Parts: sequence; C-alpha cells; structure tokens
Amino acid sequence: MDIKLLKKIKDDTLKRVGNKFDKDYRTNKEKEVRIVLKNSYVIDKDSIDEYIARDGYFALNKAITEMKPEEVTEVVKDSGLKGRSGGGFPTGLKWGFIPKEKGQKYIICNADEGESAATIDGVLMRQDPHSVLEGMALAGYAIGASKGYIYLRYEYPVCLEVLNKAIEDAKEKGLLGKKILGTDFDFEVEVFRGAGAYVCGEESAIINSIEGNRGNSKSKPPFPAVKGLFSKPTLINNVETLSVVPQIILNGADWYKSTGIPGSEGSKVFTLTGHLNSPKTVEVPLGITIRELIELGGGMRDNRKFKAFVTGSPNVTMLGSEDIDLPVAFPEFKERQVMVGSGGVVILDDKTCMVDFTHFNVDLLNIESCGRCTPCRVGTKRAAQLLEKIKEGSASLKDLDKLIELAEHLRTASLCGLGQAVGMTMHTAMNSFKDEFLAHINEHECAAGKCFK
Ligand SMILES: Cc1cc2nc3c(=O)[nH]c(=O)nc-3n(C[C@H](O)[C@H](O)[C@H](O)COP(=O)(O)O)c2cc1C
Ligand code: SF4
Repeated sequence: MDIKLLKKIKDDTLKRVGNKFDKDYRTNKEKEVRIVLKNSYVIDKDSIDEYIARDGYFALNKAITEMKPEEVTEVVKDSGLKGRSGGGFPTGLKWGFIPKEKGQKYIICNADEGESAATIDGVLMRQDPHSVLEGMALAGYAIGASKGYIYLRYEYPVCLEVLNKAIEDAKEKGLLGKKILGTDFDFEVEVFRGAGAYVCGEESAIINSIEGNRGNSKSKPPFPAVKGLFSKPTLINNVETLSVVPQIILNGADWYKSTGIPGSEGSKVFTLTGHLNSPKTVEVPLGITIRELIELGGGMRDNRKFKAFVTGSPNVTMLGSEDIDLPVAFPEFKERQVMVGSGGVVILDDKTCMVDFTHFNVDLLNIESCGRCTPCRVGTKRAAQLLEKIKEGSASLKDLDKLIELAEHLRTASLCGLGQAVGMTMHTAMNSFKDEFLAHINEHECAAGKCFK
C-alpha cells in the first residue's frame, strides 16, 4: 500500500457509493456538529474502503511520510485537544511526557467505558473502528511505540468483533503491522477484554489487568508515562480522544480550534439521558450551555422544572438550576468543582430527591470499591450508611457534619479516582442541594416523597 493506492481506493469507492455519504442524521444542524461522529451511521462499519473514501488513513500517511514524530505531538498540543475521559487533561502535553529514548513503549486505548449513561466509545468502536486504530497508530508514531492495546469493556462483545475485523483488514492493506505504507514504521494493535469492574477503567488498574494481575489501582508516582505496562513507558488515552487525532493531523490545529471556545477547544459527544422528552446522543461544540443541551434533548419531560445536571462517573458531579446557563467547558466546570465527564449526562427534574440520588451513587461506588485503601474501603461504606440514616429520618446535624468531613477525606486521601469520586459526589450534592439535606434532617421533609417510608 502507498498513497497512490490509497487515493485510488478513495476515488473508486466514492464512485461506487454515490451520494451515500451526504446522509446527515443531526436533528439540529445549527447546534450539533459532526467531527468525532463524522463517519458514524454514515459509512459501512465493516468497510475499510469506505473509511478510506472519507480520507481515512490519509493522516497516518501524512504523519509518517512528511512529519517528524515530535511535530505530530506539537500539532496535537496546538489544537488544544484535552482528554475526553472526563478530567480534560491536555493530550499533547501527556504525549510529551513519554521519554524520547528509543525502546519498547506502549499505547493503551482506554475503551472500558464504565461511566453510567455514557455510550460514546461503544458507538465509535462499533460505527467507526478505523478512526480509533488510526488515532492509535498516530499516537504510536508520535511517541515511538510499536504496540497498542485496546482495553475493551467486557460487556461490549459486538465491538470486539468489529474491532478484530478492522484490525485484520488494516493489516491486510498494509495500514497496520510491519512497514506501514511502505515506511519503516511498525505498529500492531491487540484487543484485550476488560475484567468487568468499574475500577478496571482506571489507568494503573488497566496496566495490572493486562499484565495478568487483579485489576486494582496502584499508587502513583511512578506514572505510566515513565513506568507503565510491563514497566515500559505507556501512553493511555480514551477512545474519543484518540479517534479525533487523525482529523487534527489532516486538517491542522487551527481547524480544530475553530470549534469550541478557548480552553475547551473542539467538540464533545454527549449521551443525554434522564427526565428529557428525547434522550439521545449528540455531538456539540464545547462551550454550549446546559440550557441548550436540555433543548437538544427535547426539553424537560412533562414540562417539569429542571433540577440537576449530572456528569461524571457514576453520576459524580451535580449542578443545580442556578447553573443552567453555565457553558459546558473544562475551566468553567473546574471552577465550580465539577467534571465535564466522559459524556454521560443525566438531567433530573424537580420530582427527584437529591439525598436519595446521592445515596444511590455512593452505594454503587461502595459496591465497586476494590478495598485496597482504607479511606475508600471504610469511608465509602460509612458515607452510604450516613446517607441511609438521613433518608430514614434518624440523622442529626452532627451526622451531616460527619458526611461533609468524610467527603473531604475521601477526596484527598483515596488512592485512586474511585474513592475521590465518592467524595466529589457528596461534596457537589451538598454544594448545590444543601437545603434539601437540611430539610430531611430538620423537618423530615422529602420534596419528592421518596424518603421516610
Ligand atoms: C475508577 C476510574 C474509572 C475510569 N474509567 C475510565 C474508562 O472507562 N474510560 C476512560 O477512558 N477513562 C477512565 N478513567 C480515566 C483513566 O484513568 C485515564 O485517565 C484516561 O483513560 C485518560 O484518557 P484521556 O487523557 O484521553 O482522557 C477512569 C478513572 C477512574 C479513577
Ligand atoms: S480508592 Fe477505592 S477503588 Fe481506588 S484503590 Fe482505594 S479502595 Fe480501591
């Protein structure tokens, strides 16, 4: 395979498919964009030729024939792309942390997608698997890695089939494997099925899991960039993050930055769920407001009042109705101590009891806690018990103080993000809905009529 053949496949396929690619499933063309989801629901997921016809693998060709590895990292840095797994860590900066020395290095594509309500990575892998593979190969070229793993959520058997076929097709065409596109660049990809626990999506737990150990988190440092998989430098990025890299390399950093707002460049895919008229998956520019997202989801169900906007994993950060015009953007959310999350959004109406909702999420994380560190193992259980007490009507204001203190301990002393998320859940719930907690304790009043039964 070389660029001439790539162009020929593109031209032949475009002739064959006619106007198939003109299809546009967006319901609101003014508010929604198509960058990450450019190919999803448009191309045949099993056809590498249709991916090539949409400029697939042209970015990889450009990078490995015209650019130095560090130039690829520079373009990603300039684009402003931030990790789409939730925390918003700058992607190019992370790539730059990998030591420059030659030697075995790894790419891990985090496809564990454990966040409740999020279905974005699954859609991308099922609908557009080659964009993920091309993104991984570009990352591999940039950091000098010749092997990549896709750590795939155990519950995604269809993705497993689609990805394995895509890998075989790419290898057959010389777009993965040895001497890619006739150059000296080698890059192999292997799909590794996850272990089925939420904590296994945490980067150090993934490393343990692929190494054949129990999927527990490790303390950091050392960070994976320095000592990762099999003790080698390892770059870990989310599916959505990697899948957009080919378009950034092909079209340039300025093109990517023309969507979104400064500090939150580009687009994000969200799965809008909860008390909406039309729950759906949408791709929007970052910087869109919560109000606009609710409108894209068809507005509040039964014309009820909007109460809470919940993001993160599982449902960890909450904002109330006073924040309805807040832009969904990394710095703005960080300032309010909430996460953009990996894309699962839950919209709640005024019939929801936030004490009950917080208890549900803390209890879920209590079940998922791996038990390795004391703050999370003991603290999460204790937090669930205190919330249960508030729901039953047997809690005092002292219990609320204990809960606030516990949230702080969990946020600051837990070994990994799971325990920190429990702290964050309670912290943001009490930030935005403290009156509701007080009404439960002082008045035994639950506006939603859920508690004290
Ligand atoms: C408990 C826990 C679960 C996680 N699960 C996922 C996951 O399913 N998918 C994911 O991409 N990141 C997950 N992460 C974040 C990863 O550790 C890592 O930061 C991420 O893959 C980096 O990707 P990004 O830089 O592209 O955002 C999880 C973190 C924690 C603490
Ligand atoms: S924070 Fe929880 S999940 Fe993470 S290591 Fe500690 S016990 Fe395990």
